[in-house]
Amino acid sequence: MSVSPTRYTQVAIWLHWITAILLIYMLFWGEGLIKSFGGAAPANPGLHASLGVTILALTVLRLVWRLMNPPPPDLPMPAWQAKGSHALHLAFYAMLFLIPISGMAAMGRLIAGKHPEFANLTIFNLFNVPYFEMSWLSSIHGLTTNLTIGLLALHVVAALKHQFFDKDNLLKRMSPH
Ligand code: HEM
Ligand code: HEM
Repeated sequence: MSVSPTRYTQVAIWLHWITAILLIYMLFWGEGLIKSFGGAAPANPGLHASLGVTILALTVLRLVWRLMNPPPPDLPMPAWQAKGSHALHLAFYAMLFLIPISGMAAMGRLIAGKHPEFANLTIFNLFNVPYFEMSWLSSIHGLTTNLTIGLLALHVVAALKHQFFDKDNLLKRMSPH
């Protein structure tokens, strides 16, 4: 009989933390890259799009890896908490697609409007920033980023509650060796 794993694979763990660092940076400081406030802050829209597309690519890799390497079974916890955490993880994955894709639509709107020069931006000098015009989708970029800050707050509070209140060592499941 094989023993069930008690933690995520190293690949899943590294993808989780690299994505988390990039996403947290973009959620809180990404706006300053793409907008110049009163002309004061040096905007770097190419870097904003490059980091955003990187997050999207890492998410695709992560889901492919997850299909081939399922996560460990849940720690013992009340059913509502297990269901809640699955729903929250699903919402994160949805946002990890929706945010960059709506960003591409927002980019299309800026290019068609007051920033035609953004059409020349590249992803780390490799290829042009993908963009398209779809007004309803472009309008949810800011909304989805704010929603994700809320999801992050819930996720961190839940992780800390498990670690320090339930003392079930949940963080170990997502910690590199
Ligand atoms: C924006 C940043 C973050 C995102 C998008 C994110 C997303 C996720 C997702 C989607 C999962 C589920 C993995 C799966 O089953 O496929 C997960 C698990 C986990 N995350 Fe995060 N996370 C973030 C930040 C953090 C932070 C800051 C902490 C630490 C406080 C953390 C701790 C954990 C832990 C411990 C698990 C494993 C939960 C379990 O064993 O069921 N995450 N995260
Ligand atoms: C996970 C990745 C991303 C995050 C977290 C993120 C975050 C943000 C944030 C916080 C803002 C300010 C929103 C506001 O006005 O309240 C913003 C604006 C913007 N982002 Fe992103 N972004 C991401 C990916 C992308 C991508 C991939 C593109 C384009 C290819 C993009 C293009 C834009 C554009 C054009 C704006 C200005 C939108 C406007 O003025 O309505 N973003 N982004």
